[in-house]
Amino acid sequence: MTRSQSDPNTPSTAPTKLWGGRFEGNTDAFVEAFTASVTFDQRMFRQDIRGSVAHATMLMKVGVLSEVDHSAIVDGLADIEQTIAAGEFEWSVSREDVHMNIEAALIDRIGDAGKRLHTGRSRNDQVATDIRLYLRDACDEIAAEQKRLLRGLIQLAGEHTDTIMPGFTHLQTAQPVTFGHHVMAWFEMLLRDLERLQEVRTRVNRMPLGAAALAGTSYPIDRSITMELLEFDAVAENSLDAVSDRDFAIDFTAATAIALMHLSRIAEEMVLWMSAQFQFVDLPDAFCTGSSIMPQKKNPDVAELVRGKTGRANGNLIALLTLMKGQPLTYNKDNQEDKEPLFDSIDTWLHSVRAFADMLPATQVNKDAMRAAAVQGFSTATDLADWLVKQGMPFRDAHEVVGKAVKHGVDNALDLGDMSLETLQSFSDKIDASVFDVLSLEGSVNSRDHVGGTAPKQVALAVQNAGPRVSAIYPIVP
Ligand code: ARG
Repeated sequence: MTRSQSDPNTPSTAPTKLWGGRFEGNTDAFVEAFTASVTFDQRMFRQDIRGSVAHATMLMKVGVLSEVDHSAIVDGLADIEQTIAAGEFEWSVSREDVHMNIEAALIDRIGDAGKRLHTGRSRNDQVATDIRLYLRDACDEIAAEQKRLLRGLIQLAGEHTDTIMPGFTHLQTAQPVTFGHHVMAWFEMLLRDLERLQEVRTRVNRMPLGAAALAGTSYPIDRSITMELLEFDAVAENSLDAVSDRDFAIDFTAATAIALMHLSRIAEEMVLWMSAQFQFVDLPDAFCTGSSIMPQKKNPDVAELVRGKTGRANGNLIALLTLMKGQPLTYNKDNQEDKEPLFDSIDTWLHSVRAFADMLPATQVNKDAMRAAAVQGFSTATDLADWLVKQGMPFRDAHEVVGKAVKHGVDNALDLGDMSLETLQSFSDKIDASVFDVLSLEGSVNSRDHVGGTAPKQVALAVQNAGPRVSAIYPIVP
């Protein structure tokens, strides 16, 4: 009799354990539930079955398993996979984990042939293989969404190569930039995350299978057969390391933490810019919610939630680092604790990037508010200083002159561009009417005309180059 996962504390009247031979007493019911992982590792069922089919095929090819047994196993596993996918499989906590649930169900269905599947294998190399297969699929899915978001940003930047806004340092107005340039800065951050994901995948994609419990196996296995069937790039070279290594999971959670940190920065800017004090952007209603008490509110919930998810992303990384710290070789039951943080990081990255890929390209941009803010904050002060330097004044003196002009502006509520020529000349007799060219916002941004600069011409070039850069990274995902 099997029991459902929703009822993990029922005393065990379950089938004899697959490892029950050396035991006389039953497992304590609480211990059974406490040590089980099936409630959370069942999501790897497809990878577990794929791994088993490859293992059985290899055993057949090297002559350890008959063709008849092999086809019974392959058919039985296909049937089980369908049953699980249809939601009709009865998961049993007394069968502990996804591996033993599936193996026991196979034996229920096909008898002795099913009992031969685990020849030359251990759950230790099996689980390490399953996690890698699962994570590899997850990386590919995240890469596709990351690319969708990157392409959305390229499109948004392309629409705003000459939309002027204030650029900030210390969140104080610094110099005018274009909104397209700002969006392309986000693009660079997120492109690095895609690059990191690609590197993580390379280290994920090595095969532990064949290491068995820890020392390898005495059967004449051929690991290159399973490696090719499972599309791994290489085999893990040391059996002790193969069953105990979880670096690849730490790598992934580290990459997730960085990716979420980036998304939280973008989220923070969206939240700020949507406020009544900025009004730089508006987000479609579909990505916002209202307040149950304040009728005027439109809250950027999606952006805030993504910002908040940084916490769990960091937590998952610390959990895995701490899990692995000080573990002696080789496999220890501690390692069962790897899955929930890893799965949570997968979900967090995937769902956050999906939300942003839908939301960011739909941002409505308030060009007038951006421009007004850029005009107000003395954002062309550096341009005035640079202009004076080009007339022969040392930069430090120019800095001083412009500082005085800004002080005058603050006292009289005047921007530099609003001052009369006479007023400007009172700060330096080097100033003439041509200064007004650089005091304009357009003059300022157009002058930053080099690779990486904010001139609309350069932003348009960056936008043009961006598409091929996305395609070149993680090329197996188009
Ligand atoms: N459920 C276990 C895990 O997640 C599978 C491996 C168990 N191996 C063992 N020797 N107990 O790590």
